[in-house]
Amino acid sequence: MQVAAFRTQDANDEPVEVRLLDALRECDAWLPALSIVAELDDTVVGHVVTTRGFVGDVPALGLGPIGVLPSHQGRGVGLALMHATIGAADALGEPLIALLGSHDYYARFGFIASTAIGVTAPEPGWGSHFQVRTLTTYRSNIRGRFTYARPFDTV
Ligand SMILES: CC(C)(COP(=O)(O)OP(=O)(O)OC[C@H]1O[C@@H](n2cnc3c(N)ncnc32)[C@H](O)[C@@H]1OP(=O)(O)O)[C@@H](O)C(=O)NCCC(=O)NCCS
Repeated sequence: MQVAAFRTQDANDEPVEVRLLDALRECDAWLPALSIVAELDDTVVGHVVTTRGFVGDVPALGLGPIGVLPSHQGRGVGLALMHATIGAADALGEPLIALLGSHDYYARFGFIASTAIGVTAPEPGWGSHFQVRTLTTYRSNIRGRFTYARPFDTV
Protein backbone atom coordinates (compact mmCIF):
# COMPACT_ATOMS: atom_id res chain seq x y z
CA MET A 1 0.00 0.00 0.00
CA GLN A 2 2.64 2.51 1.10
CA VAL A 3 4.93 1.43 -1.74
CA ALA A 4 2.27 2.41 -4.27
CA ALA A 5 1.26 5.63 -2.53
CA PHE A 6 4.82 6.94 -2.30
CA ARG A 7 6.25 5.46 -5.53
CA THR A 8 8.57 7.83 -7.38
CA GLN A 9 9.32 7.84 -11.09
CA ASP A 10 11.98 5.20 -10.55
CA ALA A 11 9.76 2.21 -9.87
CA ASN A 12 12.74 0.19 -8.59
CA ASP A 13 13.39 2.52 -5.68
CA GLU A 14 11.73 1.55 -2.42
CA PRO A 15 10.17 4.77 -1.13
CA VAL A 16 11.82 6.11 2.03
CA GLU A 17 8.41 6.19 3.74
CA VAL A 18 8.23 2.39 3.57
CA ARG A 19 11.50 1.98 5.49
CA LEU A 20 10.38 4.65 7.95
CA LEU A 21 7.10 2.88 8.58
CA ASP A 22 8.85 -0.43 9.26
CA ALA A 23 11.15 1.26 11.78
CA LEU A 24 8.29 3.12 13.46
CA ARG A 25 6.33 -0.09 13.98
CA GLU A 26 9.28 -1.51 15.90
CA CYS A 27 9.88 1.46 18.18
CA ASP A 28 8.47 2.61 21.55
CA ALA A 29 6.83 5.66 19.97
CA TRP A 30 4.36 3.51 17.99
CA LEU A 31 0.77 4.26 19.07
CA PRO A 32 -1.52 1.49 17.81
CA ALA A 33 -4.68 3.53 18.53
CA LEU A 34 -3.44 6.21 16.15
CA SER A 35 -2.36 3.97 13.29
CA ILE A 36 -5.43 3.90 11.09
CA VAL A 37 -6.20 2.14 7.82
CA ALA A 38 -8.96 2.89 5.33
CA GLU A 39 -10.52 -0.16 3.67
CA LEU A 40 -12.74 -0.46 0.65
CA ASP A 41 -14.13 -3.86 -0.35
CA ASP A 42 -11.69 -5.62 2.00
CA THR A 43 -8.71 -3.85 0.42
CA VAL A 44 -6.53 -1.38 2.29
CA VAL A 45 -6.60 1.82 0.25
CA GLY A 46 -5.14 4.27 2.74
CA HIS A 47 -3.11 4.47 5.93
CA VAL A 48 -2.01 7.09 8.42
CA VAL A 49 0.45 6.76 11.27
CA THR A 50 0.78 9.05 14.26
CA THR A 51 3.62 8.50 16.72
CA ARG A 52 4.80 9.91 20.03
CA GLY A 53 6.77 13.11 19.72
CA PHE A 54 7.55 15.96 22.08
CA VAL A 55 7.36 19.74 22.18
CA GLY A 56 10.32 20.42 24.46
CA ASP A 57 9.63 17.76 27.07
CA VAL A 58 5.83 17.78 26.71
CA PRO A 59 4.40 14.69 24.98
CA ALA A 60 2.66 15.50 21.68
CA LEU A 61 2.04 13.72 18.38
CA GLY A 62 3.83 13.57 15.05
CA LEU A 63 1.56 12.67 12.12
CA GLY A 64 2.91 10.82 9.12
CA PRO A 65 3.45 9.13 6.88
CA ILE A 66 -0.04 9.27 5.38
CA GLY A 67 -0.72 7.64 2.05
CA VAL A 68 -3.61 6.72 -0.20
CA LEU A 69 -3.39 4.32 -3.15
CA PRO A 70 -2.97 6.39 -6.33
CA SER A 71 -6.06 4.73 -7.81
CA HIS A 72 -8.11 6.00 -4.86
CA GLN A 73 -6.68 9.49 -4.36
CA GLY A 74 -8.89 12.53 -4.64
CA ARG A 75 -11.99 10.74 -3.33
CA GLY A 76 -11.93 11.80 0.30
CA VAL A 77 -9.93 8.88 1.76
CA GLY A 78 -7.20 11.22 3.02
CA LEU A 79 -9.87 13.51 4.43
CA ALA A 80 -11.45 10.62 6.37
CA LEU A 81 -8.07 9.44 7.70
CA MET A 82 -7.17 12.94 8.85
CA HIS A 83 -10.49 13.54 10.60
CA ALA A 84 -10.35 10.10 12.26
CA THR A 85 -6.85 10.82 13.54
CA ILE A 86 -7.67 14.28 14.85
CA GLY A 87 -10.84 13.01 16.56
CA ALA A 88 -9.08 10.03 18.16
CA ALA A 89 -6.11 12.14 19.30
CA ASP A 90 -8.44 14.66 20.87
CA ALA A 91 -10.42 11.92 22.64
CA LEU A 92 -7.15 10.48 23.98
CA GLY A 93 -6.33 13.85 25.56
CA GLU A 94 -3.36 14.65 23.34
CA PRO A 95 -2.65 18.40 23.18
CA LEU A 96 -1.20 18.86 19.72
CA ILE A 97 -0.43 17.14 16.40
CA ALA A 98 2.55 18.21 14.30
CA LEU A 99 3.35 17.33 10.70
CA LEU A 100 5.47 18.30 7.73
CA GLY A 101 3.45 18.88 4.59
CA SER A 102 1.67 21.13 2.17
CA HIS A 103 -0.23 23.97 3.81
CA ASP A 104 -2.67 23.88 0.88
CA TYR A 105 -3.76 20.42 1.93
CA TYR A 106 -3.52 20.49 5.73
CA ALA A 107 -4.99 23.95 6.37
CA ARG A 108 -8.45 22.45 5.83
CA PHE A 109 -7.94 20.38 8.98
CA GLY A 110 -7.00 23.39 11.10
CA PHE A 111 -3.20 23.05 10.80
CA ILE A 112 -1.23 26.28 11.05
CA ALA A 113 2.47 27.12 10.78
CA SER A 114 4.03 25.83 14.00
CA THR A 115 5.91 29.06 14.63
CA ALA A 116 2.58 30.88 15.04
CA ILE A 117 2.30 29.24 18.47
CA GLY A 118 5.99 29.08 19.37
CA VAL A 119 6.70 25.53 18.26
CA THR A 120 9.85 25.19 16.18
CA ALA A 121 10.52 22.52 13.58
CA PRO A 122 13.13 19.82 14.08
CA GLU A 123 14.86 21.33 11.03
CA PRO A 124 14.77 25.15 10.77
CA GLY A 125 14.67 24.94 6.95
CA TRP A 126 11.21 23.38 6.99
CA GLY A 127 9.69 26.82 7.54
CA SER A 128 5.91 27.08 7.29
CA HIS A 129 5.65 23.52 5.92
CA PHE A 130 6.00 22.36 9.51
CA GLN A 131 2.51 22.70 10.91
CA VAL A 132 0.56 22.03 14.08
CA ARG A 133 -3.06 21.37 14.96
CA THR A 134 -3.94 22.19 18.56
CA LEU A 135 -6.48 20.03 20.41
CA THR A 136 -8.71 20.52 23.46
CA THR A 137 -6.02 19.98 26.11
CA TYR A 138 -3.51 22.32 24.39
CA ARG A 139 -2.15 25.12 26.60
CA SER A 140 -0.18 28.10 25.32
CA ASN A 141 2.83 27.23 27.49
CA ILE A 142 3.49 24.22 25.21
CA ARG A 143 6.32 25.83 23.28
CA GLY A 144 9.77 24.87 22.05
CA ARG A 145 11.36 22.52 19.58
CA PHE A 146 9.41 19.55 18.28
CA THR A 147 11.15 16.19 18.22
CA TYR A 148 9.86 13.23 16.26
CA ALA A 149 10.25 9.59 17.22
CA ARG A 150 13.85 8.44 16.75
CA PRO A 151 13.36 6.60 13.41
CA PHE A 152 12.62 9.95 11.72
CA ASP A 153 16.26 10.94 12.39
CA THR A 154 17.51 8.23 10.08
CA VAL A 155 15.43 9.04 6.98
C1 LIG B 1 -1.88 13.50 0.23
C2 LIG B 1 -2.89 12.34 0.21
C3 LIG B 1 -2.73 11.52 1.48
C4 LIG B 1 -4.31 12.93 0.17
O1 LIG B 1 -5.25 11.86 0.19
P1 LIG B 1 -6.49 11.88 -0.83
O2 LIG B 1 -7.37 10.77 -0.46
O3 LIG B 1 -5.98 11.93 -2.22
O4 LIG B 1 -7.11 13.30 -0.45
P2 LIG B 1 -8.64 13.70 -0.41
O5 LIG B 1 -9.38 12.99 -1.49
O6 LIG B 1 -9.17 13.56 0.95
O7 LIG B 1 -8.53 15.24 -0.71
C5 LIG B 1 -8.31 15.64 -2.02
C6 LIG B 1 -7.93 17.09 -2.00
O8 LIG B 1 -6.60 17.22 -1.50
C7 LIG B 1 -5.80 17.91 -2.45
N1 LIG B 1 -4.43 17.42 -2.33
C8 LIG B 1 -4.01 16.14 -2.37
N2 LIG B 1 -2.66 16.11 -2.22
C9 LIG B 1 -2.24 17.39 -2.06
C10 LIG B 1 -0.97 18.01 -1.85
N3 LIG B 1 0.16 17.28 -1.76
N4 LIG B 1 -0.93 19.35 -1.74
C11 LIG B 1 -2.08 20.10 -1.81
N5 LIG B 1 -3.31 19.57 -1.99
C12 LIG B 1 -3.38 18.22 -2.12
C13 LIG B 1 -6.46 17.62 -3.76
O9 LIG B 1 -6.11 18.60 -4.73
C14 LIG B 1 -7.94 17.70 -3.39
O10 LIG B 1 -8.31 19.06 -3.27
P3 LIG B 1 -9.84 19.54 -3.43
O11 LIG B 1 -10.61 18.88 -2.32
O12 LIG B 1 -9.75 21.01 -3.24
O13 LIG B 1 -10.25 19.06 -4.77
C15 LIG B 1 -2.72 11.40 -1.03
O14 LIG B 1 -2.91 12.19 -2.19
C16 LIG B 1 -1.40 10.67 -1.11
O15 LIG B 1 -1.27 9.56 -0.60
N6 LIG B 1 -0.40 11.24 -1.79
C17 LIG B 1 0.90 10.57 -1.95
C18 LIG B 1 1.64 10.43 -0.65
C19 LIG B 1 1.84 11.77 0.02
O16 LIG B 1 2.20 12.77 -0.61
N7 LIG B 1 1.59 11.81 1.35
C20 LIG B 1 1.68 13.04 2.12
C21 LIG B 1 3.04 13.26 2.69
S1 LIG B 1 3.38 12.23 4.07
